[in-house]
Amino acid sequence: MKFFVDTANIDDIKELNDYGLLDGVTTNPSLIAKSGRDFKEVIAEICKVVAGPVSAEVAAMDFDGMVAEGEHLAKIADNVVIKLPLTLDGLKACRHFTAKGIKTNVTLCFAANQALLAAKAGATYISPFVGRLDDLNIDGMELIHEIRTIFDNYGFKTEILAASIRSANHVKEAAIAGADVATIPPGVIKGLADHALTDKGLDQFAKDWAATGQSIL
Ligand code: G3P
Repeated sequence: MKFFVDTANIDDIKELNDYGLLDGVTTNPSLIAKSGRDFKEVIAEICKVVAGPVSAEVAAMDFDGMVAEGEHLAKIADNVVIKLPLTLDGLKACRHFTAKGIKTNVTLCFAANQALLAAKAGATYISPFVGRLDDLNIDGMELIHEIRTIFDNYGFKTEILAASIRSANHVKEAAIAGADVATIPPGVIKGLADHALTDKGLDQFAKDWAATGQSIL
């Protein structure tokens, strides 16, 4: 499963990229607002740091507006992916960009039938929001399983990008469900390396090593 980081914070992106943990980046209007940065400037900067796909979301709600904005954003860098909402206009815009060879990420997916429409529109990625379904006491991960089954039934090439991932358990469950990608907040990615028994074992090794009085170098 590929790891995208779900943030527009350039310091977090650089840090995770240096660890070799990043396959791509996703942003959304809320994350851009949180960064306090100019949208196009920060996307250009992220694209220089990360070689993989970087999702940049349109703000327009209508087809013509989405096409105009998406074409503008696509010129920022070759690895920009145009993020479009799962609406009829968004799906039409997805078909437009796919025909032009521009990658798309169809976002705000909460139902398997919506994912089916995105796949039929030729989306590169579909983003089902796991955490926001869980917030409503609906099993978000079940949606990933359903989409995986549907896409495999028909050989759709659209990649399942598990979004609204909030915990290490979400990451594990998305991988078990066969998501192609998970987009994950920076803190959750770093937390995946944590285990109390790893810390305890390291403490013991450090004490025992010190007691030997040896040095490797
Ligand atoms: O970028 C889309 C998605 O990952 C947002 O997550 O936590 O705001 O529901 P969240």
